[in-house]
Amino acid sequence: MVAQAPSGKKPLPDMMTSIRIDKSGQVEIVDQLLLPHSVVWIPISTPEEAFEAIKSMKIRGAPAIASLAALSLKSSLSSTSLTDNFSSTADAVKWVKEKCDYLQSSRPTAVNLSEAMNRIRQYLNTTSTEKDTKESVIDKVREICQDVHEEDLERNMRMGKLGADWLFAKRGGKKDKLKVVTVCNTGSLATSGYGTAIGVITALYEHDQLDTAYYAQTTPYHQGSRLTSLELTTLQIPSCMICDTMLGSLFQHEDIDGVIVGADRVVKNGDTANKIGTYQAAVLAQRHNIPFMVIAPVTTIDLSLETGKEIHIEQRPSIEATQVRGLNTGTGKLSVVRITPEGVGEGDKPWQRVYNPSFDVTPAELISCVVTEKGVAERKDDEKSIDVSSIC
Ligand code: MRU
Repeated sequence: MVAQAPSGKKPLPDMMTSIRIDKSGQVEIVDQLLLPHSVVWIPISTPEEAFEAIKSMKIRGAPAIASLAALSLKSSLSSTSLTDNFSSTADAVKWVKEKCDYLQSSRPTAVNLSEAMNRIRQYLNTTSTEKDTKESVIDKVREICQDVHEEDLERNMRMGKLGADWLFAKRGGKKDKLKVVTVCNTGSLATSGYGTAIGVITALYEHDQLDTAYYAQTTPYHQGSRLTSLELTTLQIPSCMICDTMLGSLFQHEDIDGVIVGADRVVKNGDTANKIGTYQAAVLAQRHNIPFMVIAPVTTIDLSLETGKEIHIEQRPSIEATQVRGLNTGTGKLSVVRITPEGVGEGDKPWQRVYNPSFDVTPAELISCVVTEKGVAERKDDEKSIDVSSIC
């Protein structure tokens, strides 16, 4: 797939996406645990295979996991060896509902996955055993699944331009090129293409408005140093990696124009769950009077929760923080190495504990604006929340 902007000035090189579908309809994902050193495509044909890939983070990023879950359902429902065995419409509906519940349980914080599964459930709730055949139900579910995957790319391009215009209007007065910071990975590997926060950075670059995109390594999974670095170097966007501990120093020494992040869940008052480390970036940005932007599609907005306190934060296994995966430059082989004393994160002693939440919640009072494909919701200076319902 190619990350091309509709009216960009600069052409972009082809960018790898996390999901590809061949002519026969076979869905494959690139194993993100092995990137950037090795590109291995894994076939995904069933919800069980998608569940394992999402849970183990072979694929990650809120929109990408929703796409894969939906495509795995579509793929199973394209197999007559499964659908011939459905005895009735009710049987087909039951099967799909069970798989939706199962897929949704793979990762709890990113709401895009639940939103995609809810769309399918909502349709299933309108079906009736008298008027719908099992074939028509299967066809409609397959269509919804395909839509979940396809609608992502176009909306990302819209958000990219909206976000870039907002920031340039705010900061561009005295400068013609901006310096921005991002965390985690929010580009083609986390979405169906172009990205959310990276989409804004790409749009700035395409319109010659970008000086440098700084990106944090984002330990412990290293979405920044492994994945964002791969995306930005492939796109040849001027960029500079920093360690997570260097944000404060960067803000003290460089004239940074904006911090731009994606989101896993934005709730009614604008509080935002995103990759661990986002909150500290927002606190530091406020101290340095730097605009802090959240870029997320409407499917990431969860109006059912009032504040960020209600968001379920996923805890990841300790081992993901005590070990790092990388290329052994001596042997040229991929290896996993432990960086802690033996037993840390694995033993049961009080001194062997590891704290490893996957996400944190940034209160809306630290966020300058939330951007969706429908528009930009700005926080007023004297307010502590953002009315995101206006951009849903
Ligand atoms: O744990 P991950 O890698 O799935 O977390 C990803 C993020 O936090 C992203 O910022 C978010 O999903 C938005 S991606 C467009």
